[in-house]
Amino acid sequence: MKILGKFPTTRLRRVRNSDWLRRLVSDSNLSTNDLVLPIFLKEGKNKIEKIKSMPGINRYTVDKIPYILDKAKKFKIPMVALFPQTPDKKKNTNGTEALNENNLICKGIKLIKKKYNNLGVMTDVALDPYTTHGHDGVILNNKIDNDETLKILVKQAVLQAEMGSDVIAPSDMMDGRIGVIRKSLDKNKFVETKILSYAVKYASNFYGPFRDAVGSKSKLKGDKKTYQMDFRNKNESLREIALDIKEGADMVMVKPGMPYLDIIQLIKDNFKIPVFAYQVSGEYSLIKNGINKNIIDEKTIIETLYSFKRAGSNAIITYFADTINLDLLN
Ligand code: PBG
Repeated sequence: MKILGKFPTTRLRRVRNSDWLRRLVSDSNLSTNDLVLPIFLKEGKNKIEKIKSMPGINRYTVDKIPYILDKAKKFKIPMVALFPQTPDKKKNTNGTEALNENNLICKGIKLIKKKYNNLGVMTDVALDPYTTHGHDGVILNNKIDNDETLKILVKQAVLQAEMGSDVIAPSDMMDGRIGVIRKSLDKNKFVETKILSYAVKYASNFYGPFRDAVGSKSKLKGDKKTYQMDFRNKNESLREIALDIKEGADMVMVKPGMPYLDIIQLIKDNFKIPVFAYQVSGEYSLIKNGINKNIIDEKTIIETLYSFKRAGSNAIITYFADTINLDLLN
C-alpha cells in the first residue's frame, strides 16, 4: 500500500480532534446487538451461587434464570448460551447425562422458549460437563475416540433441537461432527435449526475458570491437545473453517478471543460467513480482576470488544455482555 500525504499539509490529528468527528469516521461499530451472554446452570431451586474464579458471574438454578434473562432482554442481547454444572453423581465415562431429556440444559431451553420471545438460545454440543474424566468425547483404548463420540454428539444435538434450542454449537472439535449433526437434524425435520461451529478452537490455557464453573476442572485427566488446535498454528484454521462450511455450518467461531485476533481477521478475509469471537473465561477473569483491583479502568472492556469488531467479528460471546456500561459504547 502506498502511503499518501506529507506533513505539514497532511495532519492526521485533524480528524481526531473532536468527539463528533471521531464518531463519524470510526471504522467499526459495537452495540449490544453484537453480544451473546453465557449463562451457567446448576441443579436445585431458588439458588444463585457465585463462581469463585469468575468474579461477578453466577450459577443459576433454572427457576432463577429470569433474574439474568430479564437483564439480557433489557439490554436487547440477541442470544444467550447455556452451560450446565452437572452434579458428580450424574457423571459417567460416556457422559450419558447429555442425553437425558430432563437434564439442566433441556430444562433451561424449555423455560426460555416458553417465557421469552425473540431471544435466541445457543447450546453446546460436547461431553465434558457430563464425563467423569472431563473430556469432550468418550475414551476407547486410552484415546478420545472420534467416531464413537460422533454417535453420541448427534443424539445430544437432536435432543437439544427437540427441546427448542435455536443454535446448536458443537464445541468438541471431533472431525466430521458438523456433517453428521446437520444430516441428523435435517432427517429429524429440524431444517431451520442453526449450527454455530466452534470451528477454530485452540487447546488453550484460558479455559481454566470455565472448567471450574462447570465442575470439570478437577476431573480433567491430561489435556485436550489431541482434539483442540495447537496454538502455534494458523493455516490449519482455514482448513477447519472450510471443512465446517462444506459440512453445513451456518456460522463459525474462533476461540479464545483476544490472543487470536489474527485468526479472526484471516477467516474474515477468506470466507464470507458470520464469524463469532469467544472472549473466554480466562480473558474475562483477568480483565475483571484488573478492574476490581483498580489496575485498569472499566473502559478496557469496551476496548477489547472493539478489537474483535475491528478484526472482523460479527458477534462476540462475552461474560461482560449484560454488565457493560452502555454510556461507554459511543
Ligand atoms: C466445552 C467448552 C469449553 C468452553 C466452552 N465450551 C471448555 C473446554 O473446551 O475445555 C470454554 C469457555 C470459556 O473458557 O469461557 N467443550
